[in-house]
Amino acid sequence: MRQVLIKNGTIVTTSNEYVGDILIEDQKIAAIGRNLDVAADCIVDAAGKYVLPGGIDQHVHFSFQFKDACTRGFETSNAAVAGGTTTVIEFVNQAQGKGLIESIEDYRKERADGVAMADYGFHIVMTDPRPDVLDEIPALAGAGYPTMKMFMAYKGMFFHADDDTILKALLKAKGAGVTVMVHAENADAIDVLQKELIAAGRTDPYGHVLSRPSMVEAEATARAIHLARIADAPIYIVHVTCKEALEEITRAREAGQKVCGETCTHYLTLDADNLARPDFEGAKFVCSPALRSAGHHDALWRALKLGTINAVSSDHCGFDWAVQKHIGVNDFRDIPNGAPGLQNRLAILWTYGVEAGKITRQELVELFSAAPARNTGLDHCKGALNVGYDADIVLYDPAGESVITNDTMLHGVDYCSYEGMKQAGHVDKVFLRGQLVVDDGTYIGCRGQGRFVPRRPFGTMYR
Ligand code: URP
Ligand code: ZN
Ligand code: ZN
Repeated sequence: MRQVLIKNGTIVTTSNEYVGDILIEDQKIAAIGRNLDVAADCIVDAAGKYVLPGGIDQHVHFSFQFKDACTRGFETSNAAVAGGTTTVIEFVNQAQGKGLIESIEDYRKERADGVAMADYGFHIVMTDPRPDVLDEIPALAGAGYPTMKMFMAYKGMFFHADDDTILKALLKAKGAGVTVMVHAENADAIDVLQKELIAAGRTDPYGHVLSRPSMVEAEATARAIHLARIADAPIYIVHVTCKEALEEITRAREAGQKVCGETCTHYLTLDADNLARPDFEGAKFVCSPALRSAGHHDALWRALKLGTINAVSSDHCGFDWAVQKHIGVNDFRDIPNGAPGLQNRLAILWTYGVEAGKITRQELVELFSAAPARNTGLDHCKGALNVGYDADIVLYDPAGESVITNDTMLHGVDYCSYEGMKQAGHVDKVFLRGQLVVDDGTYIGCRGQGRFVPRRPFGTMYR
């Protein structure tokens, strides 16, 4: 059995950090301690580096169809690994006429197995809530897919879900170990505002911001929480962006309701002014909910510290700018929604979280790995540096500063959301189940190296 010994790194957990060694045997962590006295086939000197559990990105979109555009697929999942994320959870839209599990399994065979370069799992997006489909919801838990997303936004699109559907899903999911996650934005309000803006000649990307004020998110967040209360079911709010939505979550949590959520790296660091960039550059930042004014950033960092929201995802959505974003050059409503960020999550959290004094390294591990593992039912094998767990390990070198550029991104998209921003340190090495897949900052893994990971039911999103 091949053994790798990572020596003298600063091992970071959710509660402390210490200089120590980690022994990898085959695909698992076999021992952790100070001055481990073991023979190994390979010794990695990690002095001066931080040793972190591989990241779990619980919110990514490979092959996501938005009107006529489709995002880059699992063939670009090496971008995750290069950025320190060793597991991704992808959203699969239920295909018309198919069941929930069938849709995931077809997608998995066609697009992920043998292609993925990070370990992977799937959330289902229910798009066709026939009675037999609703009845299938509890079976998701036992099949290894215990989470489903519903889109309150995107009126008129096939994946939009109305309140009727959300309430029925919550009632079915409740007690079965399946967590309902919602994209909370009021689709009708957006539709009205969009039509008014277009009628007034406002067709440029900034129209996206104007048509999606924070109150459309807050209203839907409150409504989703009330629906969960009616069903007496837990609920998770994805990509929370603003103070007003945080207030709704806080109110519900203080009343004892099982509600939590996530935010994303772009909502912590980028503001709405980006959508006003000239020459259609603003389209690069069209994602939903919309980017907010910088005043919301601190509220999000505080909420992460308080546990009001418990994870930071990328919501990676790799549409290119030159062709796909230009579909909406004459009407912002046609710009495919979403922005890339898969490779940047750790470095952004490190630079703008830890280095900026917003979070500790322990909190970074919580937000980047541990909480997403718990949320998604992976905490029996991933998300922590524990003996017996998968040897998904990142060595982060805190030294040096660089400028983020798309030239080093592996996502296959023609722009980077964080282009030109400063980055402190970098991902030095990554082990994916014991295999060295990033060395000296360079991806050296191969296609198909990622493995499907079945997840357990009753993810604990609500501490
Ligand atoms: O704009 C975004 N976030 N696109 C991806 C789909 C979604 O709403 O999560
Ligand atoms: Zn969404
Ligand atoms: Zn998303």
